[in-house]
Amino acid sequence: MPIKACVFDAYGTLFDVAAAAREAAQEPGREAFATHWPKVANDWRLKQLQYTWLRAITGAHTDFWQVTHEGLDWALEASGLAEPALRERLLQLYWELSAYPEVPIMLKTLKDQGFETAILSNGSPDMLKGAVDSAGIGDVLDDVLSVESVGIFKPDASAYELVTNRFGCARDEVLFVSSNGWDAAGAAGFGFTTVWVNRAGEPMDRLPWTPHHVLSDLTTIPELARA
Ligand code: LAC
Repeated sequence: MPIKACVFDAYGTLFDVAAAAREAAQEPGREAFATHWPKVANDWRLKQLQYTWLRAITGAHTDFWQVTHEGLDWALEASGLAEPALRERLLQLYWELSAYPEVPIMLKTLKDQGFETAILSNGSPDMLKGAVDSAGIGDVLDDVLSVESVGIFKPDASAYELVTNRFGCARDEVLFVSSNGWDAAGAAGFGFTTVWVNRAGEPMDRLPWTPHHVLSDLTTIPELARA
């Protein structure tokens, strides 16, 4: 089926989640953090995601901002850096993450070609608004869908259903794009046509579902959507 809607995961896919720690590490007075930031960024992301999966399977939902705090607290303590000022600065930078450089033109090209465009994210609506506004991409998105409206994180099917309900289309008419291997796989299992954006050249996740396409960045998404 031809693609009608191109839908993007937010954190790690459109927005660079490592940017918060990388930018904080460059600020004056953060010499200790400058040597530890890659581990903190990695632990932060991993714990944040693990907490979403654990909360989803146990029915203990909370919003993504809380798991973002909790993941950060674990990561800072693990590196011996549990300092309130650093914590606050990292959370502030997470609120205004930069988009990857190819994102604005890629979304504009999709809109010019007549596709619907949206975000589907675990992020809470206010976090997503902060990121979309600071990246200046609100005018090339038809919608920003948050799992908060169903109260369970991806890869639960009810999260992916937000997209088919919003656009009134068949599952395979959605091109779903995520840099998270588990999200691309989960969305493929749901029935979306999926792209895994594998910027870091990681191995494929060993899961029962496989993404349809693997790209190294978002540049060729408009070509893929047209094909
Ligand atoms: C999101 C996370 C999973 O934006 O990256 O949904």
